[in-house]
Amino acid sequence: MQILFLGAPGAGKGTQCKRVAKQLNIPHLSSGDLLREAVKAGTEAGVKAKSFMDQGVLVPDHVLIAMFRDKLSSPECAKGFLLDGFPRNLAQAEALDAMLKDIKKDLLCVVDLKVDPGLLTERITGRRVCTNKACLTPFHIKFQPPAKEGHCDTCGSTLMIRDDDKEELVAARLKTYNEQTAPLIEYYGKRSILKTINGDGEPEAIFTELLAALQSKCHA
Ligand code: AP5
Ligand code: MG
Repeated sequence: MQILFLGAPGAGKGTQCKRVAKQLNIPHLSSGDLLREAVKAGTEAGVKAKSFMDQGVLVPDHVLIAMFRDKLSSPECAKGFLLDGFPRNLAQAEALDAMLKDIKKDLLCVVDLKVDPGLLTERITGRRVCTNKACLTPFHIKFQPPAKEGHCDTCGSTLMIRDDDKEELVAARLKTYNEQTAPLIEYYGKRSILKTINGDGEPEAIFTELLAALQSKCHA
């Protein structure tokens, strides 16, 4: 089953995708997490990506397209996957269509997680993320605090602040989203696979609504 999540920075994509992927037993492929891993590992792609991420703008398309072409054709994706953060503009969406054609798979559902833009800055600046690369669970100092301050509830590792979670970068990230990623809502809206979900509210209630939507759209 092939699922894609759209949504502004801080909308809750990572929070919900982790749970949905676990529930459906498919890999969660987060472009941001993959890029941050490459930055940390000091790979060529990571070195290139860092300066763009630090400005809140998109990393060049060819970096992401190569990264996802490799991933989608790997055995871990044979039963499907959940895309979070890729594609992020029309060129990437067209590249994804070509990749899916090559591996003879279709996107079954595109979720647009919608949140009032006024809520996003507080969500982003209060985020703390698990440092364990096999976990990476997001928390929030106010909305989703960990049971033990500074430590992950899932694996116990320490939490960190993402380099791009600075208040002064939020406007740039939202501008990038509005100009380049939001048009994908229309791109996928022309197909019958788009489902809009309200991302304001309790994460548990949003998760329940998401599962119901995925069941009706792609019999998850
Ligand atoms: P990426 O890592 O994808 O960041 P993003 O899209 O800005 O989204 P976030 O991860 O910030 O938000 P989220 O929706 O996952 O929210 P979360 O669940 O964590 O990308 C980072 C950068 O990489 C980009 O700026 C770009 O430079 C580059 N990049 C990535 N993909 C690219 C691509 N395809 N092409 C080119 N460049 C690319 O939740 C946020 C916070 O809110 C958390 O603290 C959480 O605990 C809290 N929260 C979650 N749900 C709720 C709720 N219901 N109520 C209250 N709080 C909540
Ligand atoms: Mg995320």
